[in-house]
Amino acid sequence: MTTDGVNGSVDSPTFPFGRRCPFDLPEEYAKLREEQVVPQLPMAAGGRAWIVTRYEEVRFALSDLGLSSDRRNANYPSPIAIPAAMRTNGSMLSMDPPEHTAFRKLVKAEFTLQRVHGMQQQVQRLVDEHLDRFVEGGGPKDLVSRFAMPLTLAVIGELLAVPEPDLGRLYDATRGMFDYARTPEERKEAIDFLDTYFEEFVAAKYEAPGDDMVSRIIARNPDLTLTEMVHLTRLLLNGGHDSTASMISLGVLTLLQHPQHFAALRDAPESAEAVVEELLRYVNVTDLATARVAATDLVIGGSRIAAGDGVYPSTAAANRDPEVFEAPEEFRPERPRNHKHLAFGFGRHLCLGADLARLELRLVYTALARRLPALRLAVPPEEVQVLDGGFVYRPAALPVTW
Ligand code: HEM
Repeated sequence: MTTDGVNGSVDSPTFPFGRRCPFDLPEEYAKLREEQVVPQLPMAAGGRAWIVTRYEEVRFALSDLGLSSDRRNANYPSPIAIPAAMRTNGSMLSMDPPEHTAFRKLVKAEFTLQRVHGMQQQVQRLVDEHLDRFVEGGGPKDLVSRFAMPLTLAVIGELLAVPEPDLGRLYDATRGMFDYARTPEERKEAIDFLDTYFEEFVAAKYEAPGDDMVSRIIARNPDLTLTEMVHLTRLLLNGGHDSTASMISLGVLTLLQHPQHFAALRDAPESAEAVVEELLRYVNVTDLATARVAATDLVIGGSRIAAGDGVYPSTAAANRDPEVFEAPEEFRPERPRNHKHLAFGFGRHLCLGADLARLELRLVYTALARRLPALRLAVPPEEVQVLDGGFVYRPAALPVTW
């Protein structure tokens, strides 16, 4: 298996470091953790950031009020250059307290455990329908584009009540917005398309509310502006499909390397919960989603960080910290504390969709194990190409057969 993208090396480190294989994190993380240092490194896309790798320090960084998520700050670090049009604090991801606290409360009501339990039948139906379509005509097929992406997009699309025929165009534009291979102009074009689409979509919800997430959030606070709702809808659509789809694909790739755990999902479906938590700890698709910028002078791991400096707490490095997880490089669903992972972040921006994502992953892996017990890669493992260096770590394609 190969990775493609931004690379660093111990001799001339730039961040993000590259992965040599989808399952092995960059060696530099282990080195920094062992040396107990928090260095300031040049970012491949420009600027510099302090890199935090030890579990306790990553948790501290993500919960500390001295660190801001405000993307308007020119030093806000990013794995790819962020066009000016995206440097806004309109999305809740980019808000700080007290604005973030109030906004999050409004949205959180849509993701309570009770609500997510209530989504189980709907998600199961979508998993079954998409799996029916996937197996029709037989393999080999690409699990990413033919199953994981359309399924996760359909789930969040239904919850937001986005018309199904529009999902394809929205997917293309969302991809375009974060595609570091495209020019800033092309990415701006994608952002403009999404803004216009969602302005019309949200305006229609103000006029004729339905029984959907967006309408209910507006009803909870009619004073929310159209712009705030547009940013939120965009965030939910994007956050709601991309990382989950990547977890489905890389999770399947991991399970195919550990067939005993894949078979156990069929014979003992109650093992799914532990398998999902361990996959989240092990795979780390959103390592680069938790950038911060120092709002005050502060000290992390002995390093003096000045107000205005970029900081990158690495949740992936934390998830492989041997002080918290025994034999962290091994995939062991039976490990006692796998749920302590930081794959959904930590602190005030902890992923709002975590329980929905867990539900999707549990239903998908068990359905695949039950219906396609002979599932296997249709290419040699070394031909699976994984795209590194963007916000979400993902396989370009995962050709499988069964
Ligand atoms: C396996 C799948 C997922 C992973 C690994 C993931 C990961 C993350 C991470 C690491 C953060 C924190 C970012 C930060 O600290 O700056 C986050 C935030 C967020 N995620 Fe997820 N996510 C997933 C699925 C979802 C889903 C399904 C939804 C929605 C339907 C969602 C919605 C959000 C939202 C709204 C936030 C912002 C929370 C805030 O700013 O308070 N995510 N996610």
